[in-house]
Amino acid sequence: MGKKITLTVIKADVGGFVGHSEVHPALLEKAQDYLEQNSNGLLIDFYVTHVGDDINLIMTHEKGVDSPDIHSLAWDAFKAATEVAKQLKLYGAGQDLLHDAFSGNIKGMGPGFTEIEFEERPSEPVIVFMADKTEPGAWNYPLYKMFADPFNTIGLVIDPKMHSGFKFEVHDLIQNKKIILSTPEEVYDLLVLIGACGRYCIKAVYSKSGQIAASSTTQKLNFLAGKYVGKDDPALIVRCQSGFPAVGEALEPFSNPHLVSGWMRGSHSGPLMPVSMKESTPTRFDGPPRVVALGFQLNQGKLVGPQDLFADVGFDRAREKANEIADYLRHLGPFEPHRLHLDEMEYTTLPQVMKNLKDRFENID
Ligand code: F6R
Ligand code: MG
Ligand code: MG
Repeated sequence: MGKKITLTVIKADVGGFVGHSEVHPALLEKAQDYLEQNSNGLLIDFYVTHVGDDINLIMTHEKGVDSPDIHSLAWDAFKAATEVAKQLKLYGAGQDLLHDAFSGNIKGMGPGFTEIEFEERPSEPVIVFMADKTEPGAWNYPLYKMFADPFNTIGLVIDPKMHSGFKFEVHDLIQNKKIILSTPEEVYDLLVLIGACGRYCIKAVYSKSGQIAASSTTQKLNFLAGKYVGKDDPALIVRCQSGFPAVGEALEPFSNPHLVSGWMRGSHSGPLMPVSMKESTPTRFDGPPRVVALGFQLNQGKLVGPQDLFADVGFDRAREKANEIADYLRHLGPFEPHRLHLDEMEYTTLPQVMKNLKDRFENID
């Protein structure tokens, strides 16, 4: 067995500039400085970035998944950035850090995290997808397309290394249970679950031989906090090429902007727009929800990159289409299905307003 590398992505919104639109450069600088000063002996490499108002720390190391050292390093970097956010009176300073004291694992603490541990292949292309103004279920549709849909991924048909299919680990975020489903054999069962993106989320995808292929952040901030504190703005790691989807097969599902939950006040359905880093600041009605894709080649754990993959003009039409869908949905205003279904509104500020009407209802004869 060769040496194992872990790729960890930990993300948090610790203050917006302006409102919930972006991260102030001083926060990114602080997080960068913090990791530079404190990652010696812990990290092989790191890259500090953002999408919308969320800071994403992309880190490589040899400590494995769930390492208290790595998790507390990220937590402390977010704490340091929070201090800057407070000094600048940025919006929602420290919003995703739900607890004061750190207890060894970032799970349940507020920030989203996803990690994969693997033996680095002779060449190891990976994509880190990061979304803002949406929730973890936003990855269900693209992950299904990448790893189970031959109309998206021709490799499933013609590459003998992919032909046997993949295994999907699906989490029920309400019951806190998981199930593994194998494709193509169990495609229909898989779709029974993952079509309900607010509850069932694809946590990870594995090759049939058990190699990790993809992993996503799946925590639900509102469940953790017990009240509305914004959407989770998830991240996703996908390993590419040589038996995994080609880079282009991993990006292709985003060419047709699918509807995701989130957008304004975490209460609306909207198209997920694939954008370059330059276009990653959501402002129209606090959106529309968007996704960036940063590609890296790993070199003994070093992050060679990034390549800003959605900068390709090939995604211009997807952006146009997303804007058209956004126009259409916006005309519906506060009506469903633009506004989310009542079940999904439970963790927004709506129930507080509904409470005031409760006593005014009378029985109908
Ligand atoms: C969505 C989001 C924003 C806020 C909205 C209201 O995830 O963060 O759309 O919900 O700007 O924010 P508050 O209630 O803080 O004024
Ligand atoms: Mg925010
Ligand atoms: Mg955000």
